Amino acid sequence: MQSFLDIHKTDATELRAIIDQARAMKAARNGRPKGEADDDQPLKGRMVALIFEKPSTRTRISFDVGVRQMGGQTMVLSGADMQLGHGETIADTARVLSRYVDLIMIRTFEEQTLMEMAEYADVPVINGLTNRTHPCQIMADVMTYEEHRGPIAGKKVVWSGDGNNVFASFAHAAGQFGFDLTFTGPETLDPERAWMDFAATKGRPITVERNPERAVKGADLVVTDTWVSMHDPQSARERRHNQLRPYQVNEHLMSLAKPDALFMHCLPAHRDDEATSAVMDGPHSVIWDEAENRLHAQKAIVRWCLGL
Ligand code: CP
Ligand code: NVA
Repeated sequence: MQSFLDIHKTDATELRAIIDQARAMKAARNGRPKGEADDDQPLKGRMVALIFEKPSTRTRISFDVGVRQMGGQTMVLSGADMQLGHGETIADTARVLSRYVDLIMIRTFEEQTLMEMAEYADVPVINGLTNRTHPCQIMADVMTYEEHRGPIAGKKVVWSGDGNNVFASFAHAAGQFGFDLTFTGPETLDPERAWMDFAATKGRPITVERNPERAVKGADLVVTDTWVSMHDPQSARERRHNQLRPYQVNEHLMSLAKPDALFMHCLPAHRDDEATSAVMDGPHSVIWDEAENRLHAQKAIVRWCLGL
C-alpha cells in the first residue's frame, strides 16, 4: 500500500511498471463499451473517495469510470460539501475517511493539504492536482507519447508558456524517464527552481530559452497549458495574457519543430490563446488520446497504490 503523491517521489522503475500496466490494461479492453467491466476485477469490494476542492472534468470522470471498470465503487465529493470546507482539520478528515474507504484521491489548492492527508490517512492517497504539481496528467502524457512514437527517453520535449504545476510534473518526468526538457516562457513565469534542480540531479538539466522559435527547433514533442491556472488570481489574467502571447503554439511555431513532432495539452484549453485551433485539431495533435489515457494511466496508478 503506497501513496502516489508526485513523479519525483516515486521510484523510476515503479513509474515504468505503472506505464506498462496501463498499456496492458488499455489493450485488454480492446475497445469494449465504456460501461462494461474489465475481465480482471482487482477492485471488487473496494471503495474509493474522489475529493475535489477545484473544478474538474477529466480527472473526476476518468477516475470514476476507471475504478468502476475495475470492479470498485466511488464517491465523488466536493471539499465544500464536506466538513473539511467548514473547519474540520485535514488530519481528522484523513483519519475518518480511512475507516470508510480504501483509497483517497484529492484535488486541492495547497500541496500541504495533500501531504497532511497522506500523513494521517491509513489508506493510499493520490494527488489529483495541487497548485504545484499534476503527476497523474504526466503519466498519461508519457504513455501517450510512447504509444505514438516509442520510448520517450532521449527525446526533446519543449514546454511553451507558463512554468506552472503541469510543467513541474514534466520536469520531474524528465528526470525519471530520461528525456530532455526545454522551457520557453517569460522570466516572470519561470518554473520553481526546485523542479529544475530535480531534473538536473537526475542528469537531465532543463534548458531555458526565452525565444520560442529557437526553443522548438528539433522538438519531438511540444506542450502547452492554460495561461491562467485555477489557483491564479483573475486579477493577473490580463498581465499573464500579455506576457504569454508570444509563446502561443500556432502552426508557425509547430512548423519549426521536427516534421513528426507531437503536440499535447492537458486540457481544458482556451482555444486561440495558448494554442490555436489549427494546432489543436491539426496533424501533430494527440490531445484526445492524451485525455483518454488519463483513464488507463490512473487505473494502473490505483492498482499500484493498493498493491493489486
Ligand atoms: N487535465 C485535467 O486534469 O483536466 P480536469 O481539470 O478537467 O480534470
Ligand atoms: N495548470 C492548470 C491545469 C488544469 C488541469 C490548472 O492548475 O488550472
